[in-house]
Amino acid sequence: MKKPIVAPSLLASDFANLEREVKMINDSEADWMHVDIMDGVFVPNFSIGIPVVEAIKRHAKKTLDVHLMIVQPERYVEAFCKAGAEIISVHAEACDHLHRNIQQIKQLGCRAGVALNPHTPVSILENIIADIDLVVIMSVNPGFGGQKFIENTYRKIEQLKKLIVDHHSSALIEIDGGVNQDNAKLLLDKGADVLVAGNFVFSSPDPKGVIARLKGIN
Ligand code: DX5
Ligand code: ZN
Repeated sequence: MKKPIVAPSLLASDFANLEREVKMINDSEADWMHVDIMDGVFVPNFSIGIPVVEAIKRHAKKTLDVHLMIVQPERYVEAFCKAGAEIISVHAEACDHLHRNIQQIKQLGCRAGVALNPHTPVSILENIIADIDLVVIMSVNPGFGGQKFIENTYRKIEQLKKLIVDHHSSALIEIDGGVNQDNAKLLLDKGADVLVAGNFVFSSPDPKGVIARLKGIN
């Protein structure tokens, strides 16, 4: 079985020591760094903005996977791309013109992802799945780290996997929210490719060890 792509979420890191946290991820077996952007409108919380992403990029040696939880993302994707994002995901629920948003991200030279809230069916991606590089299945309601994993996620992975195969898409399936040692194996068995983990990594006294164990699950 192939190894998962592991993407620690910096949202759960110590923002007062961001350089140290980024370097910890650099020195770990993680593949990507997951960066959560919140606008206080699409989700009821704020996180970090463009200057902080630039600062992360100055130290990061891993792929920056930027998850935009913001309305009208077309206003900011160019800025995030210039700040160093390599993958940019927008929320389907936040986009009136999702196809246009995806094209914009790809034209800027980034990989394009679409994130789906827990209530959003994967079938809404039917006409766009062949054009995207990543689908982020939210396994919690976006806005906060440290929430409980939603069990219906397994079903959505199965449905999405079928959609990807049927449309000959190369999109990766990323799971974001409440990922831990207890659910990681089943998520991968169902078809997940990328595991985001925030609290599970950063609340541990041995974050690099947690990352290595997630990486070695299959
Ligand atoms: C939630 C964010 C997640 C969050 C995951 O809105 O999109 O990336 O950081 O954190 P954990 O793994 O703690 O649920
Ligand atoms: Zn996220």
